[in-house]
Amino acid sequence: MPVVRGRSIRVLFDAETIARRNGELAREIASTGYVDLLVISILKGSFVFAADLIRALHGAGLSPEVEFLSVSSYRAGTVSSGEITVLRDVESDVAGRDVLIIDDILESGRTIDFAKKAMLERSARRVGIVVLLDKPGKRAQPIEADHVGFVCPDLFVVGYGMDVAHAYRELPFVGVVEDD
Ligand code: IMP
Ligand code: MG
Repeated sequence: MPVVRGRSIRVLFDAETIARRNGELAREIASTGYVDLLVISILKGSFVFAADLIRALHGAGLSPEVEFLSVSSYRAGTVSSGEITVLRDVESDVAGRDVLIIDDILESGRTIDFAKKAMLERSARRVGIVVLLDKPGKRAQPIEADHVGFVCPDLFVVGYGMDVAHAYRELPFVGVVEDD
């Protein structure tokens, strides 16, 4: 097991597996018929996934515009409290646009539900959702993603952009920090 910051990390999804799945997701997205696509990466957790996915989208023949939406979900440690606020909004006018929201994990669904409603309120024509990981066991909102990288066990994961207190985002894989 890789050891980072003195802790063993159990790998759930390795770099090669993620890269292969990103290619499949991109082809799936390309075949969905989005027009003049605007992708919106939800910061901070999705920045690594978004960076790889947009290049895979290029490989699949798409030429999206790329934007960022930074939200805070007031997590106390590893548990989400429910309240969501916008820390930094998108700059683009989304009215009439096909939007694809990219996030790292769909868990309670509150983040994606908030972002999707915000884009529909602004009259986006179509709002799709792509997440790297789906943790279906903890939903508080009845929302699903249109495109899912992997179904993830109900564990707190790190790496590939995802953090504990801003650490472990640099890992090229997704894993679980093991107990000492
Ligand atoms: P939701 O609003 O409960 O669906 O939570 C989604 C957000 O919580 C994601 O965008 C992640 O940033 C964060 N999150 C949920 N589970 C994990 C995890 O296991 N590791 C790191 N971040 C997580
Ligand atoms: Mg996040």
